[in-house]
Amino acid sequence: MIPAYSELYLSDASLALGSMLETAVYLFEVDLKEFWRLFLASHVSDDFGNGLSGTVSGKSGWELAAEILDDAGIPFRREKPRGGVGRSREFWAGWALAQYQWRIGLPFRAIETFAPIETILLLYTPYHEMSVDHFVEAIETQRKTLPSQRPFATMTAKEKHPMTESLSATVKTADWKAEKHVPVITAPAAAKAGEPFDVEIAVGKEIPHPNTAQHHIAWMALHFVPAGANTSIELARIDLSAHGASLSDVPGPAATAPSARVRVSLAVSGTLHATAYCNLHGLWTSAAPISVA
Ligand SMILES: [Fe+2]
Repeated sequence: MIPAYSELYLSDASLALGSMLETAVYLFEVDLKEFWRLFLASHVSDDFGNGLSGTVSGKSGWELAAEILDDAGIPFRREKPRGGVGRSREFWAGWALAQYQWRIGLPFRAIETFAPIETILLLYTPYHEMSVDHFVEAIETQRKTLPSQRPFATMTAKEKHPMTESLSATVKTADWKAEKHVPVITAPAAAKAGEPFDVEIAVGKEIPHPNTAQHHIAWMALHFVPAGANTSIELARIDLSAHGASLSDVPGPAATAPSARVRVSLAVSGTLHATAYCNLHGLWTSAAPISVA
């Protein structure tokens, strides 16, 4: 396989892709999966894969991220670049993907079909501490062991550009200490049958989520799934309405913080599920088991 561009540019290219992801997530505050979807749909991913010199070495990560969002018409927090990039998992994911793509030569869209961006992120530990050859080997193993994997050229248009077909596939979750959207459930691990107890749901406990008319948590819900059941019971729904949306002097004089406490009683054990909806970044969820006796 002849690489699309000279090895001389590989270091710049990896730095640009890593810094593009880090900028999109931490400066521009765009969800990683959403941004990666926009990247794959953009000319930047093709230019990058084809080794266009102005893309792989001529632009900073900030410029690439801004170009992708501007082209897609997505509003974002246009924060100025700060120094010291390269410490995040997202940076490593972009850096490692550029290295893999250079070696294997597949378009990024094809790579996504067997190594989605969220999978790459999970490989951060332990691969960021190893030579990139180990990462390349791991992804190659994944590519070759997937039974449905076919050459990109023979895929249907739908396979080349996989679309989400069910709502449940768009509901996201993550470690709440690292991801500001995840609703945190604070509830006892055990309760007495029929005896009321408090459940708190809050978004942004560790990393605050923006709370403005343009970007806020619009609602949260608490559900309970009894052990062994396949249907949830809605315990509470919280509309967070005050974000200055009806005022011209945004952010306005009042705002509702994404936090609520509800009193619950249960008759059986099961799992509490919290859901939170960000007007820009969609649905997020988390769960907490509870034992009832
Ligand atoms: Fe958000």
